[in-house]
Amino acid sequence: MSDRTPIPAADHGYTAEVAERTADVFERIKTVVPAVEWPLHAPEIDAIRRLKAERNAIVLAHNYQTPEIFHGVADIVGDSLGLARQAARADADVIVMAGVHFMAETAKLVSPDKTVLIPDVEAGCSLAASITGADVRRLREAYPGVPVVTYVNTSAEVKAESDICCTSSNAVEVVEALGAPRVIFLPDAYLANYVARRTDVEIIAWHGQCEVHERFTGDEIRAFRSRFDNLAVIAHPECPPDVLDAADFVGSTSGMLGYVQGERPNRVLMVTECSMSDNVAAEVPDVEFVRPCNLCPHMKRITLPKIRQALATMREPVEVDGATAERARAAVQRMLEVA
Ligand code: 13P
Ligand code: SF4
Repeated sequence: MSDRTPIPAADHGYTAEVAERTADVFERIKTVVPAVEWPLHAPEIDAIRRLKAERNAIVLAHNYQTPEIFHGVADIVGDSLGLARQAARADADVIVMAGVHFMAETAKLVSPDKTVLIPDVEAGCSLAASITGADVRRLREAYPGVPVVTYVNTSAEVKAESDICCTSSNAVEVVEALGAPRVIFLPDAYLANYVARRTDVEIIAWHGQCEVHERFTGDEIRAFRSRFDNLAVIAHPECPPDVLDAADFVGSTSGMLGYVQGERPNRVLMVTECSMSDNVAAEVPDVEFVRPCNLCPHMKRITLPKIRQALATMREPVEVDGATAERARAAVQRMLEVA
């Protein structure tokens, strides 16, 4: 389903009953979602809750989803590793992935007997689009015997050509667990550089980049620091090296959340996708968030009406063909065993 496909509004409006049934969500997100938007979100949240119960479905949401999804309809939230782990353990018939396509594919790999739905099949990722299975085969020919570590931000076809997967929260651990003197690390050049600086293992990198994180610059971070006193800067390892050098902490989206919850800085700049700051701000009202607002256009394809439509119509189911799925699953499982 593309975002140009019209989706009818939820079948009931913002009634007093809907307001009452969704009051818990409003309470949680009222500091980050404008009040004027609430009458649009509440009927969708109410309808999605009902459909989830009817379908025995759960919604998994990545940390970059908007607060009305993240706090309103998600049963499980987290970073890429957390979502993969939870998808493997999920006790439901249907998983709706409020995230991008590779996350839905990973959920299907680890939970092959469940129906996994992606509310918009066009929710891609610039990293996943940067490399194909044929590219990995060519790299293997160029570096015979060198193991391939693949970031989960890739298609199942690419995972199938890999020895093991990793995420931003376990990349160094996974690379070192192989016990090899050098590894091919795909496809994020900046994450590869981040790993190379933390291990003695030689890293052979690909040239992929995240279109959201590559836009941040060290100069931008320094400008924020000079404008705001006592600013804690925390960055995602998909950022360029000069940004990571200018940060106080580097970690996956869950690592960043843990930093804010644990350190409780007065002021924080989360150098990552913009919605993440809203989701964390809703939980820690005592922390001030300074926001350079870089949005991921792929994550933003997922909306409440599309989630409702996915549950109502059971579309779009994610399928991975048998032989590819078996090999890709092995690479993901190896990662889950290491981590
Ligand atoms: P993590 O949530 O694993 O840190 O990944 C960030 C990301 O860009 C996912 O698309
Ligand atoms: Fe891909 Fe970057 Fe969007 Fe994550 S934020 S889905 S890595 S483009």
